[in-house]
Amino acid sequence: MRTFATIATAGLAAALLAGPVAQAQQIKGADVYHSACMMCHQAQAQGAAGLAPPLKGSYWGELGKLPGYVPGVLLAGMHGPLATDEGQFNGVMPTQNRLSDAEIAAVSNYVVREVNGQAAAPAVAALDVAALRAKPPTVSELRGMRKKALPK
Ligand code: HEC
Repeated sequence: MRTFATIATAGLAAALLAGPVAQAQQIKGADVYHSACMMCHQAQAQGAAGLAPPLKGSYWGELGKLPGYVPGVLLAGMHGPLATDEGQFNGVMPTQNRLSDAEIAAVSNYVVREVNGQAAAPAVAALDVAALRAKPPTVSELRGMRKKALPK
């Protein structure tokens, strides 16, 4: 059993090793993913049939470049048919708008840059999320963006 002291020491070591702010943000993005997304999108973002689509795949290079798409989905939610590398999904994702601007930015960057390895994709900042939150996209606008960007 891990004691509190062990966990605290591990946490301190991680904080000391974290160094650059960007890296600290990645760590936080993974934390947000684990607490807010993993129960549906699964541990490796592979998705699960009948529950939630994968958050990775050949088309994520395009999705990752769409400004505001991932944070927009987190604010507006998503529903309707989605084609993915794992077939078509047609479920309902509830809004994640209880997450803070910084959490939405961090988890969006985590999914695009870490999970999908799109390190060159434009980073989302908390200020970008604040602006989106003030005027969130509709689900149909998001679906239109996705459809236009993806060949399938
Ligand atoms: C309650 C389950 C659930 C949770 C929690 C959830 N999602 Fe989803 N998510 C879904 C479902 C279901 C869809 C697909 C909706 C559809 O079929 O149109 C989806 C779709 C998405 C999409 C669109 C994928 C695409 O291919 O366009 C993104 C991005 C996304 N989720 C990210 C996240 C992130 C990041 C989190 C955590 C902050 C999260 N989701 C939390 C169920 C969930």
